[in-house]
Amino acid sequence: MSKNILVISSSPRVGGNSETLCDQFIRGAEMAGNRVEKIRLKDQKIGFCTGCGVCNDTHKCVQNDDMAQLLEKLVSADVIVIATPVYFYCVSAQLKVMIDRLCPRYTEIADKRFYLIATAAEDAAGTFDGTVAGFRGMLDCLPGAVEAGLILCGGVWKTGEVQSHSGMSEAFEAGYSIQ
Ligand SMILES: Cc1cc2nc3c(=O)[nH]c(=O)nc-3n(C[C@H](O)[C@H](O)[C@H](O)COP(=O)(O)O)c2cc1C
Repeated sequence: MSKNILVISSSPRVGGNSETLCDQFIRGAEMAGNRVEKIRLKDQKIGFCTGCGVCNDTHKCVQNDDMAQLLEKLVSADVIVIATPVYFYCVSAQLKVMIDRLCPRYTEIADKRFYLIATAAEDAAGTFDGTVAGFRGMLDCLPGAVEAGLILCGGVWKTGEVQSHSGMSEAFEAGYSIQ
C-alpha cells in the first residue's frame, strides 16, 4: 500500500547536498508509488520555542506561525525523512528550532518510520555522531518511532559534490524500498 511521506529539508542552502539527497529519495519513493511532500524549513516561518509551557495544557502553541500546519503534516505522515547538513557536529539551527516546536503535539506523532539524511565536509570517524544523537534524541521522545535508515554522506562541502557520492544511490534505494 502506498505511503504518505513527508520530507523535511532543513538546510538553508537551496539545492545543496542534503536537499539533493532528499530529491533522490523522493524520486525512488515516487517511483515505488508513494505520495511525497517536501518542505524546506528555510521557507517556513517558525519561531523559537519560548519554553512558556502553555502547550502542556492546551496542546497548542501560543505562536501563530507555520509550525501549526507542519505539525498537522507530521501527525498525518506515515514516513518522515529529516535532512540536515552537519553544522558544528550537530544539526542545522533550522532543524533544532523545528524539533523544539514539536512540544504541543509530539505525543500524536506516533508510530512513524523515520530516515535521517545528513551531509558533512569531513568524512572521519565520529563526524556524524552529534547529528545522529540529535535525531535519535527526537525519536526517543516520539511514541513508537522507528529508525528506518541513516543516509550519511561525508566528504561533501560545496554544492554538487554529493552527485558522485554513493549516498545518491543509497537515498534512491531507501525511497524505492518504501511500499
Ligand atoms: C555553519 C556551518 C557549519 C559546518 N560545520 C561542519 C562540521 O562541524 N563538520 C563538517 O564536517 N562539516 C561542516 N560544515 C560543512 C557542511 O556540513 C557541508 O558543506 C554540507 O555538505 C552542507 O550541506 P548542504 O549543502 O545540504 O547545506 C559546516 C558548514 C557550515 C556552513
